[in-house]
Amino acid sequence: MNPPSHTLAVFGLSGATGRALLAAALARGWTVRGLLRTHGSLAGDNQAAVPGHLVRVTGELTDDDAVLQTLEGADAVCCVFGPRAPYTDVFCAAATARVVAGMQQAGITRLLCQTGGMIGPGQRSLPFACLTALVHRQQPAVMADREAQEQVVMNSGLRWTLIKPPRLTNATTVRPVQAATDLKLGLLSQVGRASLAQFTLDAVDRADAVGARLFVKE
Ligand SMILES: NC(=O)c1ccc[n+]([C@@H]2O[C@H](COP(=O)([O-])OP(=O)(O)OC[C@H]3O[C@@H](n4cnc5c(N)ncnc54)[C@H](OP(=O)(O)O)[C@@H]3O)[C@@H](O)[C@H]2O)c1
Repeated sequence: MNPPSHTLAVFGLSGATGRALLAAALARGWTVRGLLRTHGSLAGDNQAAVPGHLVRVTGELTDDDAVLQTLEGADAVCCVFGPRAPYTDVFCAAATARVVAGMQQAGITRLLCQTGGMIGPGQRSLPFACLTALVHRQQPAVMADREAQEQVVMNSGLRWTLIKPPRLTNATTVRPVQAATDLKLGLLSQVGRASLAQFTLDAVDRADAVGARLFVKE
């Protein structure tokens, strides 16, 4: 039996994780609908050789109509946005709440949301726990926003999965990804965006990923 094909709405498509997700989904023949702040921001991505299909919607994550338009016809949703350097933007909880509201309105139930291994409670080595505490002290508003984002997801009533990576890399080799609610992360833990993209797409159809706050690493 062929694996199911999906129409995936992606918020944060122009980022490094979003692009890895796009490449992996198109290679599987899926349709990807992405909300882009700037229409040309994926102009260089070559889709000619892949079976899937990309639909761009231009707009802001603060615009209900743009979010709803991105969700049209989707059967699963990925949120992979986050602040860019200097990592001071506080927008993730509000944007995720808007996506959740749009999904509820559109009757879409499957949500996968990527946050990070430093957000909220978790199993961390002592050095990684110290680094996490330091980042929380230096960026309290940003970290509180990400914790609030996780609460929005967990309280959404949707079939949600939180994906919580440590450091992301741009390694192109796809390796197995470990994932568990109690996976211990350390200072050297990392995961490649290409590996994580395959994991995320597989998780769309994994019943055991629903309602799980999954820490991941290679
Ligand atoms: N980088 C890491 O090592 C790391 C580690 C753990 C977790 N994470 C998390 O994993 C996710 C993906 O990270 P990444 O490094 O691959 O992403 P990235 O390349 O930094 O891309 C960020 C994405 O978020 C969007 N974005 C940023 N600020 C925005 C705003 N104010 N309004 C609307 N959209 C905005 C960007 O859109 P534009 O292109 O329009 O700017 C882009 O699509 C994020 O949630 C990140 O926090 C990252």
